[in-house]
Amino acid sequence: MNFQNILVTNEQHIATITINRPSKLNALNKATIDELHTAFMEANKDVNVKVIVLTGSGEKAFVAGADISEFADFDAKEGAKLAKRGQELIFDFIENLSTPVIATINGFALGGGLELAMACHFRIASDNAKMGLPEVSLGVIPGYGGTQRLAQLIGKGKAMELIMTAGMISADEAKNSGLVNHVTTLEDLVPTAYKIAGKIMRNSPHAIAAAIKAVNANFKDGVNGYEVEIEEFGNCFGTDDFIEGTSAFLEKRKANF
Ligand code: COA
Repeated sequence: MNFQNILVTNEQHIATITINRPSKLNALNKATIDELHTAFMEANKDVNVKVIVLTGSGEKAFVAGADISEFADFDAKEGAKLAKRGQELIFDFIENLSTPVIATINGFALGGGLELAMACHFRIASDNAKMGLPEVSLGVIPGYGGTQRLAQLIGKGKAMELIMTAGMISADEAKNSGLVNHVTTLEDLVPTAYKIAGKIMRNSPHAIAAAIKAVNANFKDGVNGYEVEIEEFGNCFGTDDFIEGTSAFLEKRKANF
């Protein structure tokens, strides 16, 4: 597939998707959102892809937000449509993928950029990264799930403060808040994600997909996460991965999923 705004590489069972609009600090315009949807869908369908790594091109930004130039003249109806479309096409879509997605935050992750990183299954940041949801400074609120996921990740009070002040936090502050799992140098950022991906892919892809579903269930309205866990746990028992994983343990060898 020929993309204009993103780059996709596929190596050693890792699909790396790079948002590639460095002159606009990788801001998410409509075309980029459409391309990201296609790239994530294809990577998730590819049985050879065990982990997806998302990053931004250049040394300055992961993503500096939704592309402000595209929505500055929108009315209420168009604004709501923009948020709904984006949430469906990439933010909710990524969160619910069965393939693990790691965000590597290599600079500014603001507004839709931080929302995108938060939709990924977990995050790693480089020490130059700056994160925030500055939407209220533009007279709007986060619309790609930021009000929900930031509160889930760092707690309601901290999320309220960060959103209301339109402030930015450093990579270390983000780590202390639980927003990112690790902080590295810019140079080590993607290699660290690949190292973690290597550990993930030793395990059963079926069980990992089930774990993503069960963890996500805790954050879905009207869904009992414990029930989802019981169901997904049970479903694992019928799989080839379960037979291989348990046999390998009993035979004192490494499982080959
Ligand atoms: N939407 C559209 N364009 C954006 C953008 C966004 N969210 N963020 C940055 N850009 C563009 C700038 O307009 C500029 O383009 P130009 O060179 O054609 O004028 C280019 O990216 C570089 O940005 P610039 O502002 O010159 O860089 P800086 O180093 O001075 O500042 C930021 C960096 C991130 C602090 C600043 O770009 C910024 O505040 N961006 C908007 C952040 C935001 O509010 N995001 C939430 C959107 S909902």
